[in-house]
Amino acid sequence: METDAHLLERAAATPRTLSHRELVALLSWPDARELYAAAYAVKVRVSGKAVSIRGLVECGNVCEKDCRYCGIRKGNGKVHRYVMGADEIVREAEWAFKSGYGNLVLQSGEQTGAGHTEMIEAVLHRIRGFAGDSFGITLSLGEQTEETYRRWRAAGAHRYLLRIETSNPKLYATIHPADHLWTRRLDCLRLLRRCGYQVGSGVMAGLPGQTLDDLASDIEFFASEDIDMIGMGPYIPHPDTPLGEGIPWSADAAARRLELGLRMIAVARLHLHDVNIASATALQALDPDGREKGLLAGANVMMPNITDVGYRANYQLYLGKPCLEEDPAASREKFERRVAAIGETIKWNARGDSPHWEKR
Ligand code: 5AD
Repeated sequence: METDAHLLERAAATPRTLSHRELVALLSWPDARELYAAAYAVKVRVSGKAVSIRGLVECGNVCEKDCRYCGIRKGNGKVHRYVMGADEIVREAEWAFKSGYGNLVLQSGEQTGAGHTEMIEAVLHRIRGFAGDSFGITLSLGEQTEETYRRWRAAGAHRYLLRIETSNPKLYATIHPADHLWTRRLDCLRLLRRCGYQVGSGVMAGLPGQTLDDLASDIEFFASEDIDMIGMGPYIPHPDTPLGEGIPWSADAAARRLELGLRMIAVARLHLHDVNIASATALQALDPDGREKGLLAGANVMMPNITDVGYRANYQLYLGKPCLEEDPAASREKFERRVAAIGETIKWNARGDSPHWEKR
C-alpha cells in the first residue's frame, strides 16, 4: 500500500476509488483529527460551508417491528404509544414551511395497512397543496409494499430514508427477530429507487459483534447501491431492550461510540464525496456538541426535531435522546447559533437535494 499520507490525499482527491483494505485503514486512522479535517475539506468543496436542514416530525411511535436494539420496539411495554392524526401532521408541516424549513421528514414506527397508507397519502396531498413543488418531503416510514411506495411518491414525497442497519446479513440476524429479513430490507431499498425516490440509507456503528470490516463493507454497500443520502449514528444501548439491557452507561464507552460515529461519517465522505450525510441526533445524545462535531467530520445535513414537545419523551429510540423539552422555535435559534459558531451557515428555505442524485 502507498504511504499513509498519500492515502488521505488520494481519497480526498478522487471519489470511490478506495479498496476494502484502504477503507479499514481510514476507519482506524491513527490521528482522528487529521481524518476529520480531510473529510471536512471534501464536504466544503462539495456543498460549501453550509448546512442543509430538515424539520423532523416524529408522527407516531406505534411499531409493528420488534428490533432488538430499539426503544420503541413493539415488545417494549413501558412506552406510552401515540399516533398523530392527519390534521396534526399537516399543522406541523405548515409550521415548518412558514418557518423557513425548506423541507420536512415524516418519521414513525413502522405501520402497514390500507388506513395508514391512505392517511399518509392524504397528508402528502395537503402539504403539496399549500407548499408547492419546491418544498422537500422525505418519508421515513419503514418497509412497505411497492404499491404504497408508488402512491406516496405520486402524492408528492420524493425522498425516502430506510436504514439497512448493517450490510452484514449475519449481524442483521443477531439484532433482529427471525422474521425481520435483511433481504426484504434490501428489496425495499431497490424498490424505492425504481419508484423514483432519492434513496437514503444508513447503519448503526458500534453494534455488539460488529467489526471494522463490517463498517468498511457498510460504506462499500452505500457505493454499490448508489445511495444518495446517508444517515448513520452510533448504536446507543437502551435499557428496556434485549440488546441494551444490563449495559451500564460509562463516559468512556460514550466517548468511544461517539468517535466511531464520527469516523464513519468521515470515511463515508472521503469515499463517496457527493452524497448528503446527516449528522445524527444520536451523536448529540453522546456529547452536547456531537452534531457540530459530525458536521466538522464531513456531514452536511441536520434534522432538527420539530415534533410537538408533548410527544417527544415517547420517541426514545435510545437513551439520552436530546432536546426533549425544547420548543421548536427555540430549537431553531439555538441551531443558528451553534452552526454559526463553527463557521457554517444554515440553508433556510432550500430543498437541499443530494448532489449525487442531481448528477444522476
Ligand atoms: N441506538 C442508535 N440508533 C438506534 N436506532 C434505533 N435504535 C437505536 C439505538 N438503540 C436507529 C435505527 C433506526 C433509526 C430510526 O434509529 O438505525 O433505523
